[in-house]
Amino acid sequence: MLASLSSILGAARKGRYAVGAFNCLSLEQARGAVAAAEKLRSPIILQVAEVQFPCAPMELMAPVFLRLAHDASVPVCVHLDHGQSVDTCFRAIKLGFNSVMFDGAALPFEENVRCTAQVVTAAKDRGVDVEAELGRVGDAGTVDEGRQNVDIFTDPAQAEEFIDATGADALAIAIGNLHGKYIATPKLNIERLREIAARIDTPLVLHGGSGTSVEDFKACVHNGICKINVATALQLAAADAVQKYCAGSPSYIGIKESVEAATVEAVSWHMDLFESVGKA
Ligand code: 13P
Repeated sequence: MLASLSSILGAARKGRYAVGAFNCLSLEQARGAVAAAEKLRSPIILQVAEVQFPCAPMELMAPVFLRLAHDASVPVCVHLDHGQSVDTCFRAIKLGFNSVMFDGAALPFEENVRCTAQVVTAAKDRGVDVEAELGRVGDAGTVDEGRQNVDIFTDPAQAEEFIDATGADALAIAIGNLHGKYIATPKLNIERLREIAARIDTPLVLHGGSGTSVEDFKACVHNGICKINVATALQLAAADAVQKYCAGSPSYIGIKESVEAATVEAVSWHMDLFESVGKA
């Protein structure tokens, strides 16, 4: 069933578990992700990010995600990940996404507040929830990796001010997490997470989930992170499965099936770690 981000994350916050938000770029990945959620009786968030539109345009992914959500026996939220402009968020809302992220993290604080609030106002009118971001989640494999650079981490007092000013439903934070494939396993700043969680009731979001250590995942889940984004791990699992499958005598249908099966496996692994199994 289609379910709102705030209902899914509200239950997660109360139950002290996190719900996986999986970037799905194909029919096979989306079907595999929902199959895993149904098998494990877990809520799930299906998402696609604006940078992924060249291979997975939101106009094409929206109907796929929405149909899967409506037909599913578990709560499914259909979310725009990293909307880079207010206009992209508005277009996603028109397409039926029931949750959108406006990513104003690179903007000056006041500008991030102004644009996020604009998206929140439009979204609320249509019963859509909004995720925002404060602090900088950089990219793995760049100079950001390995730096315990608290300057780019989310500031707890600013987080409180930001939520008061925007009314966002979920907040993505920076605590040493990075997008993409890490060279070395990161060490997240769980103390900073605790400080942020102590100041705001809003569910917190961890981006850059792929490659996080089991220990840090658990610490996040138990200290206020309610949504964990996973993209790279699903792409690596799919590529690896296709490579192995193609070592035999492959068929195109077989390739599609191997991607779906690899997605079921990768999503299930994360759901178990996030403790959302049996929560649907
Ligand atoms: P990863 O690719 O590192 O899993 O990050 C996913 C993400 O945060 C999408 O917003």
